[in-house]
Amino acid sequence: MRVLGIETSCDETAAAVVTADRRIVAARVHSQLEAHAPYAGVVPEIAARAHLERTDRVVAATMEEAGLAFADLDGIAATAGPGLIGGLLVGLMTGKAIAAVHDRPLVAANHLEGHALTARLTDGVDFPYLLLLASGGHCQLLDVQDVGRCRRLGGTIDDAVGEAFDKVARMLGLGYPGGPAVEAAARDGDAARFPLPRPMKGRPGCDFSFSGLKTAVRHTVEGLPPGAPDDRDVADLCAAFQEAVGDVLADRCARALAETGAPRLVVAGGVAANRALKARLERVADGAGVPLHAPPVPLCTDNGAMIAWAGVERLRRGLTDGLDAAARPRWPLTELTG
Ligand code: KG4
Ligand code: ZN
Repeated sequence: MRVLGIETSCDETAAAVVTADRRIVAARVHSQLEAHAPYAGVVPEIAARAHLERTDRVVAATMEEAGLAFADLDGIAATAGPGLIGGLLVGLMTGKAIAAVHDRPLVAANHLEGHALTARLTDGVDFPYLLLLASGGHCQLLDVQDVGRCRRLGGTIDDAVGEAFDKVARMLGLGYPGGPAVEAAARDGDAARFPLPRPMKGRPGCDFSFSGLKTAVRHTVEGLPPGAPDDRDVADLCAAFQEAVGDVLADRCARALAETGAPRLVVAGGVAANRALKARLERVADGAGVPLHAPPVPLCTDNGAMIAWAGVERLRRGLTDGLDAAARPRWPLTELTG
């Protein structure tokens, strides 16, 4: 089984062809980073236009790299939500057009399910597992039982963790996206120099909160002498922030593992690219006696293979969508059907 996946929900135009035996035959990503960088965030209008200009070409290049014609595909999966409506419409329409013209089944894929199932593509992980989904727009812990079947254990009550990284980076004059910049700056930092809070740590339940931590970073910056922050201050603050985030994620994951008795821990979403956080979660998994699975970085951030794979998982269970499937800007994983 060979499935084409199309991802256009945020600021990457991506496509990939993936097989049911877990091979990524071809994959292309066109990042809009440069277009959004001057605004230090994703501008929906710019994103929509860029997807419109690029999606056809990215799909064509992917098919060429795969050496396949559309008629050779067993299905087409396109992200239908959640995400920015302009990009979703472009990607979903492209997928529908290919499906209609070549009479192939369509999967209107959920972006979060794509992230959630990626470890099954990369590591062949079995259900069930505890999933920490940590990205720019999402931060939640899910008990994943099967395709289309997961229970939400908790989530952020304010900012998503990637969003907190992006905001801290902005405060410190680092580039966008903030996550990789903060991780790089933190590498030579002293995490002990600035004390920062660990919101929600030790509390019952599995919820997160990052807005107080972000505010504490702001107050620390404001309390520095004139001329600051210099490179040392930035490095130390990034290290302190990243360590605080790591402590919170570790605490919440440890609690969720104990509560569910899940036999493995999977991390997904852009924040899973962070090596320090991954090492921290490795220790949590070790402590609970379960393996940790984190997809390789290019498959943690938004990509086409995760959508193609969600398509494989659904198609082999006979789950397809009609050509009337709607784009859904808001579409929580718990509203999925399997
Ligand atoms: O999953 P993703 O590519 O897009 C969605 O939000 O769906 O995640 C992007 C987020 C951004 O907030 C970015 O700053 C964060 O993931 N991120 C990181 C790292 N790389 C990306 N956060 C921390 N450390 C990183 N190395
Ligand atoms: Zn994403």
